[in-house]
Amino acid sequence: MDPQQSARIAALALEDTELPEETRRSLEECRQPIAVHGRGHPPPPRIPLDEDVAAVLIDEETLQRRVAQLGRYISTKYAGKDLVLISVLKGSVVFLADLIRHITIPHEIDFMATSSYGASTESSGVVRILKDLNKPIQGRHVLVVEDIIDSGHTLSYLLRILAARKPASLSVATLLDKPARREVDIDVEWTGFAIPNEFVIGYGLDYAERYRNLPYIGVLKPEVYQGGEAQEEEEEET
Ligand code: IMP
Ligand code: MG
Repeated sequence: MDPQQSARIAALALEDTELPEETRRSLEECRQPIAVHGRGHPPPPRIPLDEDVAAVLIDEETLQRRVAQLGRYISTKYAGKDLVLISVLKGSVVFLADLIRHITIPHEIDFMATSSYGASTESSGVVRILKDLNKPIQGRHVLVVEDIIDSGHTLSYLLRILAARKPASLSVATLLDKPARREVDIDVEWTGFAIPNEFVIGYGLDYAERYRNLPYIGVLKPEVYQGGEAQEEEEEET
């Protein structure tokens, strides 16, 4: 929806005399400029996450364009089918949230969480399920939505578990792929971007649970994770 259209909708809503007072107030408030500083409204803290980024690999506009494209492909492929998107927490939630707004057919979403042991910038291949799906997938068309495929161990394990539940079909859409790092073969239907062998952050991807809120994909400065040895033996949620 273009900004003019949404402004029109807000204007229409404001004219509706049936609107509860609180709804009217929030609609009016969202028309104010965002930065309302002053007494009681301190400016938001500036967290210098960008300073840890060595380079922007994929900028926001390029990401959004590709995600929209993938949404159209998925809508075409699954038209008329009972589609459920499975997001692997937590890295893929930002991708999923943007992707589903470009999917124009009815579908459901569900979540799984896995963990792997090992150094925090490398996957060891030992995977454990922390959270399982809420609903059965038997006979349904399943699309696993991933943030990044690195060695492929996490996804390969997950696909085996899901396949055993007899879905009508099982495919993968990943935002990022590091083909140079692959240790197990995986059939990936849609890849947003193949990237070089660098540790990346942003748009859902983390290092030590941070940087997920960056709107672009960036390369983390090596000195940031070279100091992170203390994390090595911890169990890391992906
Ligand atoms: P794999 O099992 O080696 O394929 O690792 C997959 C998981 O490791 C992803 O879902 C990510 O959570 C994490 N991962 C791998 N590479 C990166 C990266 O460059 N940045 C952030 N997380 C990564
Ligand atoms: Mg992670």
